[in-house]
Amino acid sequence: MMAETPFLCIAILCMLMFIQISARPTTFAEDFKAAWSDSHIRQVDGGKAIQLVLDQSTGCGFSSKRKYLFGKVSMKIKLIPGDSAGTVTAFYMNSDTDTVRDELDFEFLGNRSGQPYSVQTNIFAHGKGDREQRVNLWFDPSLDFHTYSILWSHKHIFYVDDVPIREYKNNQAKNIAYPTSQPMGVYSTLWEADDWATRGGLEKIDWTKAPFYAYYKDFDIEGCPVPGPTNCPSNPHNWWEGYAYQSLNAVEARRYRWVRVNHMVYDYCTDKSRYPVPPVECHA
Ligand SMILES: *[C@@H]1O[C@H](CO)[C@@H](O)[C@H](O)[C@H]1NC(C)=O
Repeated sequence: MMAETPFLCIAILCMLMFIQISARPTTFAEDFKAAWSDSHIRQVDGGKAIQLVLDQSTGCGFSSKRKYLFGKVSMKIKLIPGDSAGTVTAFYMNSDTDTVRDELDFEFLGNRSGQPYSVQTNIFAHGKGDREQRVNLWFDPSLDFHTYSILWSHKHIFYVDDVPIREYKNNQAKNIAYPTSQPMGVYSTLWEADDWATRGGLEKIDWTKAPFYAYYKDFDIEGCPVPGPTNCPSNPHNWWEGYAYQSLNAVEARRYRWVRVNHMVYDYCTDKSRYPVPPVECHA
């Protein structure tokens, strides 16, 4: 009996550690706060989920309480169902610096009933953006929650569930800007943008369908908080810097190609009217 005690203790310790690790995702209030029009942000399910509201008076938005330098952010989002034309739901990271802004974004552009949502991604590095790409989603993002993530390591990827929809590589060696030094906050907003969002602004919001609702849950930020331990961002042992996150594996690469071949509707890299010569990162 005595001999088993240490094993029992180790087992209990492991269980406690497991509980600790699996305590993520967190509640909204642990990591986030209302940033714009908090009357339109409703906490539901004991704060584990929230509802964002867009009506004719205003949209709304929230932000993380802290900033992070490298890491992975994900949340589950269920977008506005039915006729969502003219609405934009955004999920992004931003350094909040005016001149040399770093920003990684997803923007979900609504559509008329039965027409596909588009996701626009963009990347600002050292103040330079204009790197838009768009894919039309191959599923209806308003029927179920899907996980949207931003993985930002010394090599960086956007994901929709397990399917990568954007990859921006660290090619600093080739003099291509990459965000490495400014911490970024995590933001989400729901607002009206019917001057550009849907079919280039041709489709307007149908306010008779308002209010519009988007739902969020399973908030998960794992990264180096700033201010925080100064050696964290450069620590090669952070899991998001691990081998599995340095490049797309074979399955991810195949899915990524599938998205680009079948669902990509805009790519700044091939927009000859904007860039007669494609920007250097497009073939780096
Ligand atoms: C909306 O649907 C139209 C028609 O299918 C499509 O061309 C467009 O890419 C979709 N998305 C947006 C944001 O307009």
